[in-house]
Amino acid sequence: MNPDDRTYDGYQRPRTPSILASCTGVGAATTREAALSTPATAPTHDQAADVPLAARARALTKAYGRGETTVRALDAVDVDIARGRFTAVMGPSGSGKSTLMHCLAGLDTVSAGQVWLGDTEITGLKERELTRLRRDRIGFMFQAFNLLPTLTAAENITLPMDIAGRKPDREWVDQVIDTLGLRDRLRHRPAELSGGQQQRVACARALASRPELIFADEPTGNLDSRAGAEVLSFLREAVDRLEQTVVMVTHDPGAAGHSDQVLFLADGRIVDLMQDPTAETVLDRMRLLSGGNPQTPGTDSLRKS
Ligand SMILES: Nc1ncnc2c1ncn2[C@@H]1O[C@H](COP(=O)(O)OP(=O)(O)OP(=O)(O)O)[C@@H](O)[C@H]1O
Ligand SMILES: [Mg+2]
Repeated sequence: MNPDDRTYDGYQRPRTPSILASCTGVGAATTREAALSTPATAPTHDQAADVPLAARARALTKAYGRGETTVRALDAVDVDIARGRFTAVMGPSGSGKSTLMHCLAGLDTVSAGQVWLGDTEITGLKERELTRLRRDRIGFMFQAFNLLPTLTAAENITLPMDIAGRKPDREWVDQVIDTLGLRDRLRHRPAELSGGQQQRVACARALASRPELIFADEPTGNLDSRAGAEVLSFLREAVDRLEQTVVMVTHDPGAAGHSDQVLFLADGRIVDLMQDPTAETVLDRMRLLSGGNPQTPGTDSLRKS
């Protein structure tokens, strides 16, 4: 089968169970509703900061449900993700962080607005083109892991590349596996792994193909402090050494302190942006934004110390 014909890239939750076993992935695409965008010139450069952009959204709106029960998960968000930078996304539970990541990565449809990956407007792409773009350029670590239950850890890690018909760089994949401490778990299936181990497999899957742009939704949420620190330094290294771009959701000011800039979301809007954060400045800003009392999980350790 020609890999270009496939609309499953190894990241979305597959709809057809048989796909999992065979790993061929036909027809399990996310349904993209009508493309809502109007053509526009691709703004691929942040003129003010003079940096190229890995991703950009304009007036990005995502609503769930209809009528009185509509939830506006994202409300006309404008965002620029600079290439080769590490961006953290923070905000209370339900503020739209995961939705923003899914829409920027082309894993979810938008209700209105436009999203670009590099110079390609993805809100106007057909599913097949979008899948190909995601497969070639994006790594995604889901908040809920989205590992395929019938595959072993090793198979999950290389699945996006296997589907794309790309040969993994064995040396790099081995380095990822060893750094994440997964060597002795490679033959296990997700159900035989702890939550933290599953998170590390999801992390390895996103890093294995060395994508240009890595989205990580709470990648340290289930890890102990040592494993969490390793994942964070790996992501930092991906930016500093390999010139990759990382966008990471976190509730933890300490994790956000590893980033170059922090976007703060509230009620589906970006309410603040901080450059060169430290754990302390992030915590202070969270206190300010929440009226003196950060309620989000993950800040306990910092508040106590
Ligand atoms: N499939 C869905 N159907 C209906 N509402 C949804 C759906 N997905 C998300 N929402 C709603 O959209 C809003 C934003 O959700 P989202 O998952 O983006 O929040 P989040 O900031 O990632 O939260 P958390 O920190 O708890 O992960 C929430 O109110 C959520 O209930
Ligand atoms: Mg979330």
